[in-house]
Amino acid sequence: MGLLGLRSLSVGAIHDLLQSAALFKSSLATRSAPQTLLGKTILTLFFEPSTRTRVSFETAIKRLGGSTVSMAMESSSTKKGETLFDTVKNLDAMGFDGIVVRHRHTGVPHFLQQHMPFPVINAGDGFNEHPSQGLLDCFTLQESLGSLTNKVVVILGDILHSRVARSNIWGLTKLGAKVVVCGPPTLIPVGIEEMGVHVAPSLDTILEVADAVNVLRIQYERQELGYFPSVREYRAWYGLTAQRMTRLKAGCCVLHPGPINRGIEIDSVVADGPHSVILEQVTNGVAIRMAIMDRWINGGDPNE
Ligand code: CP
Repeated sequence: MGLLGLRSLSVGAIHDLLQSAALFKSSLATRSAPQTLLGKTILTLFFEPSTRTRVSFETAIKRLGGSTVSMAMESSSTKKGETLFDTVKNLDAMGFDGIVVRHRHTGVPHFLQQHMPFPVINAGDGFNEHPSQGLLDCFTLQESLGSLTNKVVVILGDILHSRVARSNIWGLTKLGAKVVVCGPPTLIPVGIEEMGVHVAPSLDTILEVADAVNVLRIQYERQELGYFPSVREYRAWYGLTAQRMTRLKAGCCVLHPGPINRGIEIDSVVADGPHSVILEQVTNGVAIRMAIMDRWINGGDPNE
């Protein structure tokens, strides 16, 4: 079984992965990463665009001595109508050791795992989960804040369409953080409190108590018209603006999974300012993905 989400990962497994990522990060600094994937070949299959996730998975695998094969979905036989099942069965016949997959539909990695003998790593499925992003966000927050127990982490923006939000919620609540979600009521899923989070009535009520604010991207590609009146109004109510930055606690971390819509959900002075750990997230993405690939390709399912 591969890494399909943080919902099904035990607290112990999350702690182990974060510890392992810290060791891999140190090994990168001294150019002494262990070659634990030597001889292993991993297929990366991205049916949606990606910069950070794809490049950092491929970098992580190569840093560990493994090799990658990337399929260009735009020029693959899926364009001739080949089903996902047939595509992956044919790829399986070529003898890979694992697969990293991103797809716009929820459940595609789970479907593939049911039919594949090797580990499937979810690099984002629909609105469901983005587990490697959730782990790298937890890792980055632990580096900055220490233990996450009782830390107030605000997830700000389009919660409804965000797999990043879901993986953050599963991971952070398991690590003891108090997670607060905030955004336009139309973009807060009904019943989200059942995931163990609080819903803030407004951004301005929680800015001053936040230990971290994870700002989500406005997902134009997933929006139907009408979730909020206008981008200008969204920014006025939910933008992490220069003015709002002045009300953050000293030491409050600002995260963003990228890509950023500057001047909409976050101002440049915030994204590039003293609270921002956005580029640390990107750096940590390689270490976390090294921990993931080492664990799942070499060690098996950490829940077992
Ligand atoms: N955070 C994230 O998933 O970025 P990409 O879409 O660039 O991979």
